[in-house]
Amino acid sequence: EKGGYDHYMLKEIHEQPQALRQAVAGRIDAVEERVELDRSLSTAFLDSLDEIQLVACGTSYHACLYGKQLLESLADVRVTVEFGSEYAVGSGRDPERTLVVGVSQSGETADTLRALRTAKRTGIRTLGVTNTVGSTVARECDDALYIQAGPEIGVAATKTFASQVVTLALLAVDVADSRGELDPADGRELLSNLQALPGAVQTALDRDREVREVADAYAGGEAFFFIGRQFATPVALEGALKLKEISYDHAEGFPAGELKHGPLALITERTPVLAILTDGARPEETHNNVKEVQSRGAPVVAVTSETGREGDYEVGFDVPDLGVLEPLVANVYLQLFAYHVADGKARPIDRPRNLAKSVTVE
Ligand code: F6R
Repeated sequence: EKGGYDHYMLKEIHEQPQALRQAVAGRIDAVEERVELDRSLSTAFLDSLDEIQLVACGTSYHACLYGKQLLESLADVRVTVEFGSEYAVGSGRDPERTLVVGVSQSGETADTLRALRTAKRTGIRTLGVTNTVGSTVARECDDALYIQAGPEIGVAATKTFASQVVTLALLAVDVADSRGELDPADGRELLSNLQALPGAVQTALDRDREVREVADAYAGGEAFFFIGRQFATPVALEGALKLKEISYDHAEGFPAGELKHGPLALITERTPVLAILTDGARPEETHNNVKEVQSRGAPVVAVTSETGREGDYEVGFDVPDLGVLEPLVANVYLQLFAYHVADGKARPIDRPRNLAKSVTVE
């Protein structure tokens, strides 16, 4: 049942190319260079929007932070991201011109459901982005968009994060098109990168053994810090969440520029830093932040694409050119890193202590 893998988590990490193919299947019209989503929300409604509010928890919240940047860069619409548990409609919103998008793998997370119900009571339209057909999120929202990742059993979300981001990317193209804002060259580039993504993810997966060696070398760290910029910031946060969940090591993710505003005080030669230097993430600037931690003796594991490769790093993994989707490939290295650190410590990877796959209490 685990397909020859020791844990569901590792199986699901390796299922990402397939999951990502399924996420876009039948949704990209390559000839017309358009996205076709099966939605009931009208094009006129999407065109009239003042604001899109994304709500979610945990890993799905990180997918929303990525989705916000995709939506704002393509569709010329204001996007806010809220934790399900913190959501309030906010003042000054016109319910007729606001859309709330609830993102939930399980479709059963109580905090996210609470947010969606709060929005609904105010008369705001709701869209659920979920992996689970027939889930409460899918049933209660005005419209549902499925990420089509297949079942995820490991408590730590892996393949569904990538599929959520890809689904939000498709939504971004659709919303941009509906608003007459889609720049043809930008749309074409993103759609072609979406189709190249599964192959690029496979190249990262093929380096699993090397990631394991790096994980073994750094597993004794006192704490782990993950840094990125812009599109890579959500992936830095996600890399840290994955590691802390399954290895029980202290890990934190930051926007790279924030390091010097406080967290730098924690950096020593015993705190490995995992840095994402990819396109769409101003790698030149992150490179300077990497130098700051290196000068404090911290070992750096760098995940770089062509644009970020000018630095001098002890350990590096590369990502093919894929524009704003590059951090999604970087994330695969971080998932494997977390997995191997935890596995080396013999943690119960598929069922970490104190956590549940679906959190149905507030
Ligand atoms: C982390 C993880 C959790 C979930 C969160 C939301 O690996 O799995 O942080 O992402 O509980 O769950 P869903 O997406 O089902 O609403």
